[in-house]
Amino acid sequence: MNIPRFKNTLKIGFMLSVSLLLVGQSNSQDNDKQLEITTDLFKCLTEMAKSDSGSYFVDNILGDLAATIEVANSESGGEYPAGSLVSLIPTEVMLKHQSGWNEETNDWEFFELNVSATGSEIISRGTTDVINRFGGNCFGCHQLARPEWDLICGSDHGCAPLPIDRATIMAIQDGDPRCMKENDDDL
Ligand code: HEC
Repeated sequence: MNIPRFKNTLKIGFMLSVSLLLVGQSNSQDNDKQLEITTDLFKCLTEMAKSDSGSYFVDNILGDLAATIEVANSESGGEYPAGSLVSLIPTEVMLKHQSGWNEETNDWEFFELNVSATGSEIISRGTTDVINRFGGNCFGCHQLARPEWDLICGSDHGCAPLPIDRATIMAIQDGDPRCMKENDDDL
């Protein structure tokens, strides 16, 4: 990794998160609308469905995968159904709770995970204050997606770009350590 650039990204991310912490205080969640999350719900990316755009993977922990895929593949956007789980890289996941859970994030919860061959571990989770390993605030970037995209950034929905390019993203996806065990079994 290019260290000076990484440091800069950290610095920018830190400033962004501090300013977002200042504005992101109003945070009310309705616990009755919260889905129960266990770490086995965070699967190896190749066990999930791939969006037509090919960039990210989706699942639905309530079983309504068809409804989630329909929105993921829509060319005009739409609101993801409850239970939708979305992931671009193994360690970052968005999960949609029941309608009314948290108005500010449109009922999305952000997760930062640690992943290994033995599975996933939650490092942090929440709404407006989850910071990723590059020092960036998940909601800070994702809220910039135009309203019809329901906080999903894609490549052209209005979010600031990630500090990593497409080839790097694909390499990270291919290297999901949670899939390795399965691949070994195939040998
Ligand atoms: C610097 C801004 C930024 C930060 C910080 C950020 N993201 Fe993203 N995220 C993006 C962009 C841009 C994309 C789309 C990348 C692409 O497909 O080219 C994306 C893609 C995703 C996707 C795939 C669906 C989509 O929106 O395209 C998920 C899920 C996701 N991010 C979750 C997270 C989580 C969880 C965090 C925090 C732990 C986080 N992101 C932090 C900008 C950000």
